[in-house]
Amino acid sequence: MTQLATPLDELNLNRADLFEQGQAHDVFRYLREHQPVHWNREGKRNVGFWNITKYEDVMFISRNPELFISSKDIGSAYPKDESEFDPETDDRGKHLIKMDPPRHVRVRRLVNKGFTPRAVNALEPHIREITNHILDDIEHKERTDFVLDVASQLPLAVICEMMGVPRKDWPYMFQLTNKVLGAADSEYQTDVPDEIRGTPEGAQETARQGMREMRQYFAAQLADRKGERKDDLLSLLVDSEDKGETLTDDEILWFAFLLIVAGNETTRNAISGGLHVLSEHPEQRKKLQDDMSLLPSAVEEILRWVSPVMHMARVATDDVEIRGTRIKKGERVVMWYPSVNRDEDIFADPYTFNITRDPNDHLAFGIGEHFCLGAGFARLELKVMFEELFRRFPDIQVDGEPERLRSNFIGGVKHLPVKLR
Ligand code: HEM
Repeated sequence: MTQLATPLDELNLNRADLFEQGQAHDVFRYLREHQPVHWNREGKRNVGFWNITKYEDVMFISRNPELFISSKDIGSAYPKDESEFDPETDDRGKHLIKMDPPRHVRVRRLVNKGFTPRAVNALEPHIREITNHILDDIEHKERTDFVLDVASQLPLAVICEMMGVPRKDWPYMFQLTNKVLGAADSEYQTDVPDEIRGTPEGAQETARQGMREMRQYFAAQLADRKGERKDDLLSLLVDSEDKGETLTDDEILWFAFLLIVAGNETTRNAISGGLHVLSEHPEQRKKLQDDMSLLPSAVEEILRWVSPVMHMARVATDDVEIRGTRIKKGERVVMWYPSVNRDEDIFADPYTFNITRDPNDHLAFGIGEHFCLGAGFARLELKVMFEELFRRFPDIQVDGEPERLRSNFIGGVKHLPVKLR
């Protein structure tokens, strides 16, 4: 039986250092076995919350969006003092992922056009072209940082092109998404005073800077599209209308922000995490490279294994019981995807990486009302990337330790040294 170094009532999953070496699988395993609905004590600045670690419970929460709402933020760290929210960057209730029904349903219908299976499939040739450009740029090298030069480049290009962000600004978007989602990592706290670098204040300020700058950037882009429409999602959003429903300028700006952030950081980590796990399981990798028709199933196993988004939170709108534990109205529940994707009650041999796993109903993209809007794009990007990567660099090898992102939200790798041949 697994043992924990920290007593259960002191365990705090808000601590990013718990996740610096990996996804805290030993902690999750213990919680699933001993206390699947676990009260996470409050912190100095943050309220306490319930850690939810079993698959069926995450299904229940996600499928009841009126009982468990998203508009009171979706992260595990929620300030005790509401005045900590800065009006300029307070995005609660402003975009899809932090909206509740019925508005959520209507807005999702408005923005859905660009994300239908047909729209996604139509982009496959172009995604392949972009992938090959990225690989052309490393062709002459012996070694490279796979995250910076490959994994981060594809989602960045796809989402920026979709939004009509000019190429010269892509590195800037990369920098801003790192600031927003990698805020707790001092590598991205580049513009804060030395005294607060590496502290929660440094993280908060870094995330705010990223949000502010991204909104300013898209405000200028939006003004431009209002003058003249282009063939991009931003222009489509300006004109979107469904049964008399439209998006306000503020909602368009927040949606642009959400897409850039959600589309980049996640897919990047699925690609680099995918190469890493395949390298750690050479027999699985050989099986795949011998028969690339296994790729769609391998992609699902990579998503289950890596679970690039580690949690989403909800707030209960009424008293409710989960597994015999009473959750009170107003309390937060935090759903841990790496845990549910290794739930022994759902997955046979959950700690075995098996590219032909069937069934594989992982929840890496969530489930229910807020199911990932970009899942089709993410799956396609992963498929095309591994097809082209293994075609052009069949012997690519991880060549050093991955450097993990300091975060309890994104299960990520910042740097992954590889040898290309
Ligand atoms: C491997 C890559 C990805 C993973 C693991 C991932 C994961 C998730 C998860 C877990 C949610 C559910 C949120 C919830 O239940 O509260 C979500 C929602 C969302 N994702 Fe993704 N995502 C990925 C890629 C993308 C991409 C490429 C895009 C955009 C092109 C995107 C856009 C969104 C949006 C807009 C939502 C909000 C949907 C809603 O609230 O209705 N994601 N994603």
